[in-house]
Amino acid sequence: MGNIKAFQSERHRAIQSGVNTTPARNSDNDFAKQLAPAVVVENLSHAYNRKTRPRHIIESLSLTVAHKEAVAIVGRSGSGKSTLLNIIGGLEPVQDGVVQVLGLQLNKLNDSQLTNLRRANIGFIYQAFNLIPTLNVADNITLPLALAGVNTKDRAEQLAPLLDAVGLDGRGEDYPDVLSGGEQQRVAIARALIHKPALVLADEPTGNLDAKSGRVILGLLQSLISEQGSSLVLVTHSLEVAGIADRSFIMTGGQLAPAQDSHINGSLAW
Ligand SMILES: Nc1ncnc2c1ncn2[C@@H]1O[C@H](COP(=O)(O)OP(=O)(O)OP(=O)(O)O)[C@@H](O)[C@H]1O
Ligand SMILES: [Mg+2]
Repeated sequence: MGNIKAFQSERHRAIQSGVNTTPARNSDNDFAKQLAPAVVVENLSHAYNRKTRPRHIIESLSLTVAHKEAVAIVGRSGSGKSTLLNIIGGLEPVQDGVVQVLGLQLNKLNDSQLTNLRRANIGFIYQAFNLIPTLNVADNITLPLALAGVNTKDRAEQLAPLLDAVGLDGRGEDYPDVLSGGEQQRVAIARALIHKPALVLADEPTGNLDAKSGRVILGLLQSLISEQGSSLVLVTHSLEVAGIADRSFIMTGGQLAPAQDSHINGSLAW
């Protein structure tokens, strides 16, 4: 337990001081995975348009994701899945409640501390890919390393095996606009994983793909995450996709219900 406290306070100090924790990242992650849960959400509530016509999207929601655990969240369109993922990933502020990511309470971090946490320890696969059109495939994928100050040679070394793993060997010079949807999705996955984040947040990682390509990409995501020992929060409309997770939840009425307790079954299309 002493180690846990030492690690947490060391990490906390680094982030509080705005120091980029990237250089020690891999060993940090090894520690982090054995220590605090990857994600703790307690009594989270979130509304849009709070000042005019508030719409309550999340209501007293709680969730814990353990180290190396994969949790899936399914739910109807508009139920708040992306909102929840964005809050966990520090892209939306915590309005009410507590969100802890890798032992750090998000609403106690300032913007640069949050950015450091995200850059060093979180891999985000966005619902709409969010590739940068003016960067080629190689530069899109290695962007998290470039932002962390990793030099060109090291970036190239880390890129090569990942490019191969996602089946895009030889496509590094291509720009996003010439890639198919599935290829863009694979670039987005590679970008989310290249810095070996302790936590991967995936918003509909197969949402824009046909069933077969979706399965291939999901298998790829699953194997890269288990190789890297990352925790995963996976948002999806598909109960089949959710099946890769250790636990699944249905998001409904602003809360999460364990999928096995739900009356909802696999025949229901989201
Ligand atoms: N920035 C925003 N301002 C106002 N309302 C928003 C904003 N972002 C999302 N919403 C609303 O919050 C609700 C939940 O949106 P969210 O994107 O979290 O749903 P979702 O479950 O991810 O849906 P989908 O499955 O279609 O991606 C929606 O009704 C949406 O219109
Ligand atoms: Mg969404």
